[in-house]
Amino acid sequence: MAEINVDFNRPVLMGNEFEYMRQAVENGHISGDGPFTKKCHSFLESELGVPKALLTTSCTHALEMSAMLLDIQPGDEVILPDFTFVSTVNAFVLRGAKPVFLDVRPDTLNLDESKLEAAITVRTKAVIPVHYAGVGCEMDSIMEIARRSNIAVVEDNAHGLFGKYKGKYLGTFGTLASQSFHETKNFTSGEGGALLINDPMLVERAEIIREKGTNRARFFRGQVDKYTWVDIGSSYLPSDILAAFLLAQLEQREKVQLHRKQVWEIYEAGLKDWAAKHDVQLPCIPDHCEQPYHMFYMLLPTLELRQNLISYLREHGVYSVFHYLPLHLSDMGQKFGGKLGDCPVTERISDQLIRLPFHNALTSGEQEQVIDLIHEFPF
Ligand SMILES: Cc1ncc(COP(=O)(O)O)c(C=O)c1O
Repeated sequence: MAEINVDFNRPVLMGNEFEYMRQAVENGHISGDGPFTKKCHSFLESELGVPKALLTTSCTHALEMSAMLLDIQPGDEVILPDFTFVSTVNAFVLRGAKPVFLDVRPDTLNLDESKLEAAITVRTKAVIPVHYAGVGCEMDSIMEIARRSNIAVVEDNAHGLFGKYKGKYLGTFGTLASQSFHETKNFTSGEGGALLINDPMLVERAEIIREKGTNRARFFRGQVDKYTWVDIGSSYLPSDILAAFLLAQLEQREKVQLHRKQVWEIYEAGLKDWAAKHDVQLPCIPDHCEQPYHMFYMLLPTLELRQNLISYLREHGVYSVFHYLPLHLSDMGQKFGGKLGDCPVTERISDQLIRLPFHNALTSGEQEQVIDLIHEFPF
């Protein structure tokens, strides 16, 4: 049998990356907010229909900016799903917030909106829904509860660029939303992110926070005659070289999404019957959600089977991975009072979940090898 070597993820050039990076240097502007950064901003604003998009150095940093923009203070509470990346919570804890971890739905693995209202207290400042795998959270309920309780919604849309909930783009519901362009995402600049600002009142302060707490952006627009320190902030803007790389990726949106759709559908078609036979749960995409085909995961019946499958695939040259560990049981989560049994769905699915290889150059031949191997996995 031919030797198999299927990466979990691989960075892929989509066309004009190096040409645009060369142009960025020739433009004589390789620090932040150069011509390519502005083109990325316009691209995101016009494609998504958001009032303002700002590139950031990561999704983590877009979340940190969100916490500053919402004036999160020590003692404020923020509600977020227990099944997410540490940045979703850490960005708010950095400002002194107390996290409240909510369990997730067993079908989409998204924040369980039916538990949201009961978790809100007088100290709650924000809820941070995470669109896991780019499949929309139940935004109608979440937005309605947030409106009634007068709390902000920050969408962590790290996985969900171009995904939709009821025909509307993810990232356009909350006051703020964060995107990731980390190398594992559909579109990448290696490290990178964006803050989407849906409340125009927050745009000016976002520009200040992103520019080390200075009004540099206003200065360059000629709106003030000198720039100075006016607020808290940090250095959240990426080099224009990275924006050049990213623009080349974003411009291939149709091609990227079409390929990823095919990858996802090949996995689903090839694994559906096997999954039903072995009590393996495949991703649930509600009819009212359009996914951006960010990942393909499966939930094995037990932790032992999940670990065995990862090892078995690895022994045969296929790299698959698990995903988040329950935040409430992490060292930090326990410091905030988390204990076993608090979020039973997250505790279970975190043990069961496996992500299959998924990237922009994955071939159907490689997928066939993965699927054949899985069919032969000794259950
Ligand atoms: C849900 C979620 N939020 C935030 C992040 C952080 O993204 P970044 O690496 O761009 O900071 C990740 C990382 O993949 C993530 O999965």
